[in-house]
Amino acid sequence: MYTEIISINDKEGLARAAEMLKQGKVVALPTETVYGLAANALDGEAVRKIFKAKGRPQDNPLIVHVADFEGIYPLVDNVPYVMKKLAGAFWPGPLTLIFKKSDIVPLEVSGGLDTVAIRMPAHPVILEVIRLAGVPLAAPSANLSGSPSPTISRHVIDDLSGRIDAIVDGGDCEVGVESTVLDITRDIPCILRPGGITKEEIERVAGKVEIAPSVVEKIEGQRALSPGMKYKHYSPRARVVLVRGTSKDYVNYVNGLIGDGVFALCFDEDAKGLEVPYLSYGSCKDYNAQAKLLFSKLREADEKGAKLLLVHSTEPVGVGLAVYNRLLRAAEFEEIVL
Ligand code: TXA
Ligand code: MG
Repeated sequence: MYTEIISINDKEGLARAAEMLKQGKVVALPTETVYGLAANALDGEAVRKIFKAKGRPQDNPLIVHVADFEGIYPLVDNVPYVMKKLAGAFWPGPLTLIFKKSDIVPLEVSGGLDTVAIRMPAHPVILEVIRLAGVPLAAPSANLSGSPSPTISRHVIDDLSGRIDAIVDGGDCEVGVESTVLDITRDIPCILRPGGITKEEIERVAGKVEIAPSVVEKIEGQRALSPGMKYKHYSPRARVVLVRGTSKDYVNYVNGLIGDGVFALCFDEDAKGLEVPYLSYGSCKDYNAQAKLLFSKLREADEKGAKLLLVHSTEPVGVGLAVYNRLLRAAEFEEIVL
């Protein structure tokens, strides 16, 4: 399949992208979190093409993207009171809310659940394309299933060129990790996936919030609350091992493992002492920088030939929780505590 690359400055190109979406085609679009692979959310057949292009398990539901508040009403069964506060505070932005779904949402989107995930993204390009297409867009991250999410257009091209109809090139994504997924169908809202909006920020607006155990624990057997959390995820080809400890202990530990293909994914503060090839994903307390850099550094490690990637673990606080959640999955929960 020919994949057209469209620049965000190409007005006609964006209109073409919207037209393709109306015709049931799949198009990758930039958002403020990561690139998304979009299709008309009301067209089950179009949505099936997303799963095919990504190689995504069918029971993993998709997020529906809307361009305005009115856009949610046809998609949901009822609107919990807390939604207005949350959407008022955080939309457009990296917060996805889970609602009871209406009948017009195809089962392909909900993965067979009776709920639907919705967000209003903050990137002007996807908002514009939703408006031009006149339909809500289902969009998972635009990577091959299992590999790190794409934060620049080249990642999308590497993974999906030849498998989708078009890619809109919008430069780097601002946030770098995916949206926070918050279930508001229960009495106490629950974070199913941590992301760009933190628990503390949500609690300031909506009161007490819980965090699903699957965010930092391995769940086996039982059905995951957020099905996406149960799959091996975000993984480069290299084996990833997390290492938790002070900068000094981390550096000593890594230097003790020098060998063919051994790489470090460290903080800026660690770099000086390391004797193995390294990539840095920001300063140790700068969780926003880490979020923005993480996925592209995981891909870069593969490109540089890493076979074992020893990652200095971040703190699970604020946006750091989202970074740690992705790291745990990339490492298949393998973490050494020094
Ligand atoms: O920032 C983002 O959210 C990006 C951009 C493109 O918007 N999208 C994204 O989509 O990360 P995806 O498909 O990679 O992740 C969606 C997550 C998965 O963990 C999925 O299981 C969960 O949201 N999810 C979707 N619908 C759900 C539902 N009805 N109930 C529970 N979890 C749901
Ligand atoms: Mg994804």
